Amino acid sequence: MAAGFDKQAEAMQGLHRTGFGFVEIGSVTPEPQDGNKKPRVFRLDEDKAIINRYGFNSEGHEAVYSRVKMEGEKQERAVIGVNLGKNKLSAMEDVGDYVDGVKKFGAIADYLVINVSSPNTAGLRGLQQKNELENLISCVLEARNNLGVTKLPPLLLKIAPDLNEEERKDIANVILKEHCRVDGIIVCNTTTSRPSDLKSEFKDQTGGLSGQPLKDISTRCIGDFYRLTGGQIPIIGVGGVATGQDAFEKILAGASLVQLYTSFAFQGPPIVRRIKRELDEILRSKGYKNISEAIGKSALSS
Ligand SMILES: Cc1cc2nc3c(=O)[nH]c(=O)nc-3n(C[C@H](O)[C@H](O)[C@H](O)COP(=O)(O)O)c2cc1C
Repeated sequence: MAAGFDKQAEAMQGLHRTGFGFVEIGSVTPEPQDGNKKPRVFRLDEDKAIINRYGFNSEGHEAVYSRVKMEGEKQERAVIGVNLGKNKLSAMEDVGDYVDGVKKFGAIADYLVINVSSPNTAGLRGLQQKNELENLISCVLEARNNLGVTKLPPLLLKIAPDLNEEERKDIANVILKEHCRVDGIIVCNTTTSRPSDLKSEFKDQTGGLSGQPLKDISTRCIGDFYRLTGGQIPIIGVGGVATGQDAFEKILAGASLVQLYTSFAFQGPPIVRRIKRELDEILRSKGYKNISEAIGKSALSS
């Protein structure tokens, strides 16, 4: 399950039971905050899409921490990622909110995500610029490396689809540097673009667009990052996945893991096992013995 569905870490067990292997909670901000005023979520039914401008409504680190900790103690549970955001009132150039998140959740999360790609917090996406990003990543990695725990949690960066070629290259160059080498990237967050064929009455609402219209944009973005990083940084692919074929395309483009949100909102829990079954059938029919054999196959040929 992608970030944003279980922002306050209340549904981890239920989501695991529907078949999700890993659940990313959050985004969570250090201090509690309300987010934007309602309405802030719009279903674009005809487009199988959602536009949201939640603006990081979060109960804050403290409340979410205790729930994640309790879940972590269960024997039967999903892999739990904690997606870290920053408070609206924190200075944008200040990396402290993320560093605090790493320190707070580092010992109990299975992985951590630095989210610099939500379109609904003014200035946040600016942290993807090369100098800002280099500073941010080196600080959070240092905090992670000094956690003093036996098993350091992998640290991932979640990026936006709305980046030009230059910006993608810059990000790839930063995360390949030794002191900025993240353990993975999540490609991608919602888009601020509006494909011209959207039909729904809500298509011009402000916010991030997800679901079907994001699918191919996201897959191309995954392919770009797979090529730009030479396949050296694992990718979690997300954006418009609703079938086994969609998941397979993400893997061929370079994703090692796949997430979804919007299709679950439209189709409900059965979609999880359906996608896994379909993906299994596709892999078998094409003669793959293991998913890892398919990763990046189309990225290298295109
Ligand atoms: C209502 C809603 C809220 C979201 N909130 C977050 C969030 O808090 N943090 C985050 O990193 N991504 C958030 N996302 C983005 C998703 O995690 C995902 O990257 C995006 O929706 C593309 O996947 P999908 O097309 O399967 O929904 C949100 C998405 C939606 C639809």
